Amino acid sequence: MANIQESSRGGFSNKLGFVLAAAGSAVGLGNIWKFPFEVSDGGGGAFVVMYLAFCFMLCFPVMMAEIALGRKTNKNAVGAFAENGHKKWAPIGILAVLSGSLILSFYNVVAGWALGYAWEMFSGNFSVGQHFGEFVGNWHINMATSTAFMFVTIFIVAKGVSGGIEKASKILMPSLLFLILALMTYSLTQEGAMEGVKFYLIPDFSEITFETAYGAMGQAFFSLSLGMGALITYGSYVGKRDNMVSATSMILLADVGIAFIAGLMMFSFIFSQGLQGQGGGAGLIFTVLPGAFESIGPILGRIIGGFFFVLLSFAALTSTVSLLEVPVSYVVDEFEVRRNRAVWIVGFVIFLFGIPSMLGNGTVDFFTNFVHYHGAEKAVNFMDFIEDLASDTFLPLGGFLVAVYTAYVWRGDKFKEEVEKGNPEFGNSLMGKYTIFALKFLAPLILGSITIVTILSKFFGIHLIG
Ligand code: TRP
Repeated sequence: MANIQESSRGGFSNKLGFVLAAAGSAVGLGNIWKFPFEVSDGGGGAFVVMYLAFCFMLCFPVMMAEIALGRKTNKNAVGAFAENGHKKWAPIGILAVLSGSLILSFYNVVAGWALGYAWEMFSGNFSVGQHFGEFVGNWHINMATSTAFMFVTIFIVAKGVSGGIEKASKILMPSLLFLILALMTYSLTQEGAMEGVKFYLIPDFSEITFETAYGAMGQAFFSLSLGMGALITYGSYVGKRDNMVSATSMILLADVGIAFIAGLMMFSFIFSQGLQGQGGGAGLIFTVLPGAFESIGPILGRIIGGFFFVLLSFAALTSTVSLLEVPVSYVVDEFEVRRNRAVWIVGFVIFLFGIPSMLGNGTVDFFTNFVHYHGAEKAVNFMDFIEDLASDTFLPLGGFLVAVYTAYVWRGDKFKEEVEKGNPEFGNSLMGKYTIFALKFLAPLILGSITIVTILSKFFGIHLIG
């Protein structure tokens, strides 16, 4: 227990606890719900290749920077900058708190769908797959499930870092991994599965457009919980002697690995059920999987399907917990509010802000056709708008700012010094040199330009490229 931090903020009990909690934050709806539909909408293998490249080449260095900053300062996403001597940079943290809160508001709604689907599967209602639109349009059910979900999230965050977050991750993550591996194996034996695998793995580079590239970038950030201070916050609870480099590698591999397996499973099921080419969108797993579970058999299908959505809800829970932790630790540190009170207030406000996302699926027209981007064919609903704003725009922007801050304000050698506590060879290693290079040049250049072009093309219909 040597690593427990002595302050009253609490901390992870050891490195494994941190890695599991951070991997728990990373692995969530982003991997199992979002990744497959982004791949499907983004043209298959080419999207996957770009996604992987972004994860390893850009996200890895940014992740190191976030964790190092958190650990160095022992502070929340906003306070970390001030504590490090650069108060002027604290607005990056404010942006982070804002994007985290926005993401949580809609994430909680989707998590509620997963919970509702667990119930439907256990009761053998496989046909809900064809009625996804009605399911999400029924706001009574969604209100109930997402209230329940936020309630549990609040409960865990209120229990603090090692007691709640860490314990939950340790049990739930391995169970989820086991179940999707089993489902993947089953899916690959289905007739027609190989067509799906080909779509998923063989890149067709003519599919690459600028939209695919920023979609892949946004997805990489979202899935790795980057760009909004979640890892600054979790990093602030990490022991000083822990090896950050290996911790970061494990988090990255766990997240990318689970997304990859989930993709294999999904595309095998999609093609074996002949559902390809119908456009995925946010309903993809909810329309495809019930049919797959039905094919397993009436009783076994219910059990496996039910458990799948239960575990998906748990994966979502370890993510919502990290999303809520960011604004909560900010309020606790900076305004000296007691943790318990901060959790309830912040959780409640974010929940309220999620209601328009819930009502925007056909219930209330205003939220269903919420904005019409300049030059776009159709209006997008409230949830998609928040997703576009927070995950495709704010996260890469946050990543850009963190990279610039680390490389030019905090400075490469100071960053290196922090990482070297726990990994003395870092500075001279190839990985260390690459990390610094990426933070100095690659990340600012690529993330900066993607952010600008995304804003112009997505929201204003100004297409500078492709
Ligand atoms: N990464 C999580 C997922 O894949 C979602 C998430 C949790 C997140 N914390 C985050 C996304 C912080 C961005 C930033 O489901």
